[in-house]
Amino acid sequence: MRKQLYFACLLMILTALTVSCGKKIAVDQYAIIPEPAQMEMGEGSFTLSGSTVCYIGNVGQNDHVVKYISRTMRQWHFNPVFVGKPGTNCMQFIINDTPDMELGDEGYEMVVGSDGIVVTANSERGLFYGFQTLVQMLPEDINNVRYSKIVLPACKMRDMPRFGWRGSLLDVSRHFFGVSQVKKHLDLMAAYKMNKFHWHLTDDHGWRIEIAKYPLLNDIGSWRVDRDNQPWGEADPAGENEPRTNGGYYTKEEIKEIVEYAADRYIDVIPEIEIPGHCCAVLEAYPQLACADDDTTYTVQFGPYWPPRAILCAGNDSVMSFLKNVMDEIIPLFPYNYIHVGGDEAVKHNWERCPRCKAKMKALKLKNFEQLQSWMIVEIEKYVKRQDKNIIGWDEILDGGVSPEATVMSWQGTKGGLVAARRGNDVIMTPTEYCYLNFYQANPEFQPPAMPETLVTLEKVYGFDPMPKGLNAEQQKHILGGQANLWTEYINTSEMAEYMLLPRLCAMAEVLWSPREKKPWENFRTRVARNIIRLKNNDYHVGVGSFKPWMSVEKSIDGKLMATLHWEVEGTHLYYHTGDGDFKPYTEAFAVEKNTVVTVMAFYNGILKEKAYELKVDTDTLK
Ligand code: ACM
Ligand code: ZN
Repeated sequence: MRKQLYFACLLMILTALTVSCGKKIAVDQYAIIPEPAQMEMGEGSFTLSGSTVCYIGNVGQNDHVVKYISRTMRQWHFNPVFVGKPGTNCMQFIINDTPDMELGDEGYEMVVGSDGIVVTANSERGLFYGFQTLVQMLPEDINNVRYSKIVLPACKMRDMPRFGWRGSLLDVSRHFFGVSQVKKHLDLMAAYKMNKFHWHLTDDHGWRIEIAKYPLLNDIGSWRVDRDNQPWGEADPAGENEPRTNGGYYTKEEIKEIVEYAADRYIDVIPEIEIPGHCCAVLEAYPQLACADDDTTYTVQFGPYWPPRAILCAGNDSVMSFLKNVMDEIIPLFPYNYIHVGGDEAVKHNWERCPRCKAKMKALKLKNFEQLQSWMIVEIEKYVKRQDKNIIGWDEILDGGVSPEATVMSWQGTKGGLVAARRGNDVIMTPTEYCYLNFYQANPEFQPPAMPETLVTLEKVYGFDPMPKGLNAEQQKHILGGQANLWTEYINTSEMAEYMLLPRLCAMAEVLWSPREKKPWENFRTRVARNIIRLKNNDYHVGVGSFKPWMSVEKSIDGKLMATLHWEVEGTHLYYHTGDGDFKPYTEAFAVEKNTVVTVMAFYNGILKEKAYELKVDTDTLK
């Protein structure tokens, strides 16, 4: 007995010591991404400590958001006691009795004052976003350092999103990512208030979801020979009978686990099943679903597949049965009301030669093969609608006519989105030049291999406006938001996925959430630098970004041309010369002449990054 008492006392002393032993810190300035819609600093501060209590109003202790908050706070060694009445030294999370119309379903208000922190919202979702903001107000190393006291400057904010669709696509077909990797991706989305996870589950390179009725989709379609140690596009051909060890798929239990994990973070999951193209994996498993007379031997791909000729036969009734049966297994797994049906890049070469497809077209009195694709998509749309699901398709679903209720993802620029919104269809904007985070983020000479062609720098993403010009107020309502896409041809590890996503996903999150007019680039760059520290502390691998400087030229009042240099990565120092070879540090705008070539070098941590860039007045001044 005496021994037990002794241990109990020792435990109490140790607990007291560990709480009081933590570090004390005063937060200097907040660096929140996405930037809150309205925020003003106040007088004084609040000190968060182990003795801070929690009060929750109109929300239960077992509700998702409360469990999430207490779990997260315990991680920081703050073990909040829930009290029945708000008081001093208190964090309050309250759902409004009367909805605050301006905040909507996702917005929140937060006040940090000397007595504590009060977060109010109309919904749990709003409280969740308020808490995500609070997380970013704490020190960047909060998950790794035990703080006993955190002094937070007083402030007040009212925050709500500009767009309801703040999406992130992860392609798990080109390379498979396991459950824990997907969860880490969802954590990242939640941290930046993104709310739609577009899960690209099927493609030429692998079928990634368990379908009980068609086991060969998984036994054959989910696996390929392993070429991950060879560059994409330069892999050796598969050997005869070579074991297929690369790939995988999610069991239904795993899908449920991920959907639940996402729901805990207020993220909806949209599965994508590609119709009618991008289907090598399906056709290797079930070759009878290809066109008549198509004698191609399809195999799950492990490198570039272009042109993508694999296509499901539109004239074969068993293809429609196959798709409907697949939908029957998909629909119960995904509670959100959208299914993505692909529709992109389906080369119709096989249809043009297929007697069944041609007969189908004739029977349906269709004019072309685009209309035949539309017919297929609309048939599936009608089918899933009976189970209360709507469809989303890539902008090619417009080509042969689209039903008024389909949502269009505009990826080939913004023109598809404009056409669709004018027709009254909902639209998600995801044009490649801003939203494809598989493209290089910096000069390819200095980067790991990525999808070539376009350079999508952080600053470029930050310049994206999902609302295209040329729509009237009614049509603008159809622009639901935008989305960043990570296609994974060149990405075969989580580390590389994160390297490509970050920090560009931060820019996308802000573009989709914050008011358009509140976005000075210089300010964002500083906040990104702070977020990079936070992300690294949370074990994310972050790309450094582009060191390619750019220049803008303006005429001064006395008629001189004045050049201003710009850079992307916070902490970069630029040196330049205008022809004499004598590099000087860049501090302010300088005079140039038409056609002057300005040579600029970027130094970061004292090291020359990338190379010396030559920027010419006139041609290079427009980024
Ligand atoms: C796409 O990038 N093919 C949608
Ligand atoms: Zn056919």
